[in-house]
Amino acid sequence: MVNDNRITTHPILSVPEMDEISFYWNGTKLYARRGEMISSALIANGISIFGHHHKDGGAQGIFCANGQCAKCSVIANGVSVKSCMVAVTENMIVHSVEGLATLPADDAPQSFEPIEHLSTEVLIIGGGPAGLSAAIELGKKNIPALLIDDKNALGGKLVLQTHKFFGSEEDSRAGTRGHDIGKLLAEEVSGFSSIEVWLNSTAVFVFSDRKVGILKDGVYKIVSPKRILNAAGAREKFLRFPGNNLARIYGAGAFQTLVNRDLVRPTKRLFIIGGGNVGLIAGYHALQAGIEVVGLVEAMPVCGGYKVHADKLMRLGVPIYTSHSILCANGEEAVESITITAIDDKFKAITGTEKTFTCDTILIAVGLDPLSEFTIEAEAAGIPIDSAGDALEIAEASSAMFNGKIAGLKIASALAGETGNPVPDEWYAKAEALKAHPGIVKGYQNNTAEEGVFPIIHCLQEIPCNPCTTVCPTNSINTEDGSLMAVPVYNGSCIGCGKCLLICPGLAITLVDYRKDSELPTVSLVYEVSNHEIKVGDELPLVDIDAAELGTFAVTAVQNYAKQHSQIVRFAVPKGIAKQVAGFVIQSAEVSASVNNAIIPERLADDAMICLCERVSVGQVRSLIRSGISDLNQIKAITRAGMGPCGAKTCEVMIKGLLREEGIPVTDVVPNTKRPLFIEIPLSKFPDGSVK
Ligand code: SF4
Ligand code: SF4
Ligand code: FES
Repeated sequence: MVNDNRITTHPILSVPEMDEISFYWNGTKLYARRGEMISSALIANGISIFGHHHKDGGAQGIFCANGQCAKCSVIANGVSVKSCMVAVTENMIVHSVEGLATLPADDAPQSFEPIEHLSTEVLIIGGGPAGLSAAIELGKKNIPALLIDDKNALGGKLVLQTHKFFGSEEDSRAGTRGHDIGKLLAEEVSGFSSIEVWLNSTAVFVFSDRKVGILKDGVYKIVSPKRILNAAGAREKFLRFPGNNLARIYGAGAFQTLVNRDLVRPTKRLFIIGGGNVGLIAGYHALQAGIEVVGLVEAMPVCGGYKVHADKLMRLGVPIYTSHSILCANGEEAVESITITAIDDKFKAITGTEKTFTCDTILIAVGLDPLSEFTIEAEAAGIPIDSAGDALEIAEASSAMFNGKIAGLKIASALAGETGNPVPDEWYAKAEALKAHPGIVKGYQNNTAEEGVFPIIHCLQEIPCNPCTTVCPTNSINTEDGSLMAVPVYNGSCIGCGKCLLICPGLAITLVDYRKDSELPTVSLVYEVSNHEIKVGDELPLVDIDAAELGTFAVTAVQNYAKQHSQIVRFAVPKGIAKQVAGFVIQSAEVSASVNNAIIPERLADDAMICLCERVSVGQVRSLIRSGISDLNQIKAITRAGMGPCGAKTCEVMIKGLLREEGIPVTDVVPNTKRPLFIEIPLSKFPDGSVK
């Protein structure tokens, strides 16, 4: 079988044995991993175009891999489905959607089994970091709760996070990898008999009679909860640029789902839009999956994500273009290249600065939008509802875990009829600290010593993180003022154990050892991209914190730390540069070279799509706004923007952004009227509660 796009070795993830099943794609027999989603099986087989749009024939393919958009639709065994949400089955017949899908002829009499009605104290929507943490608090108090998740495993976004977590060891398991935290939380939840978990279960609406419709394994059920916790997370924002309708433009979550959950390599050459933590981490995950990362653009003068993430990516050889934006994506059906441009302080393109890079995929990581629909409808229905995690506020998963814990305790207290707030004040303080945005960047600690062994801490920005301080056996690292947020400094008696190197999620600590040779001290660096193998004797360019080259040096030792999925790579370097060494380059500069003549788009920025489902351009909506319309329902009625299969989940945020850009105050904008349901489900499910 063609398995070029399968990841067969990974530095962090273990690759399971291939349990192969066959299926048919447009008549051709292909092979899938048993249980994987159709979209992943197709991409693993080198297929990234899943059909063509009924309006303009444009290629369609995956964007969110999270059931939120409808770009990945295919016909599976005669029925139109979102390929990212339906697993391949043996001998499944899958067809591309060419134009509008036709409804399958079905005149078989329907069975109308009664629909199951259940009640629960608490319905938790979402089994990610916040939902699981809340369930644990409820479980501890033996409160019956039903936790539902639309995936086939618990963990939510934690499943995709192969990197070590920031925060503190005590409150958010800092230094442990996200997917391992997901497993630990799920295991803890399974120990509480009062918590029932439904996987493959989607909340489809919160009805005015205080009932929630849930599709569980394809069977419709009705649940009456006393309270709801919305821990459903967030959906990714899209971006408007000419060519945004091409195939192979992925959200960061989709990319991480393919690479880290399904071990599928969807691209050979990736370009990233967005320098927040999500984009920076996705770039690192791409390198770990053996993908070339051509570059990353960030519109602001500095990346919004943690400096340690940006530094790490640049040190490995990925250029980051700040104060730059995407001008257009180029290609016939799918992305073949990207053109970027420098932008001024008003975010306007600066003519003459355009650069075009060959790449086969663009990853969009420009922010998240909380899934607030459950909250809005529950409030309208009069069901008490709390939110936690990204559904409450977009922040790191470490913060989501903590505010999930707070929500769980508050709900337990409310159900017990307690008055007053049960949450200790210090929990709120910790929650605030964990969600803090990065602060100021400081200079290096003044360290003139040239003897013994000690760490150099290349973590110069205030971020909510401190496992380097708690892991040190000699208590030699502390943050400047003892707070979680302050910058860590070394002051003590290092014994060179390397624990701080191995726990640091930013890979921002090196060790300099003068004990054997004070003229040529040994520098130790942590490495986690072992598919790009480093061996003793390899000559590698060493770089400082800003990725400036310090010279090429031979590797003197490579030590494996299997439990941490890491290696420590050592070099002997002149003492004059030893403290500056922060990393080594693994990706050659050729990967990131631009083509000779930049491709300048013939199309205007307003030709970009704002509603991909209904093929409505930015210009169409802008002219309506300029004619005085600020009601999204009117824009929808006139252009169909928001009327497509995703139910405006992709375009509503972009239209609101355009209204803002046109100077319309938020208070004058009339939002789309929400109508049942939150997602598409076959009509035949509603009257029927039977298991088929
Ligand atoms: S190498 Fe070990 S002893 Fe030295 S600072 Fe790091 S954790 Fe502490
Ligand atoms: S140096 Fe310390 S505070 Fe900075 S990222 Fe590493 S573990 Fe966190
Ligand atoms: S993008 Fe789906 S309805 Fe507009």
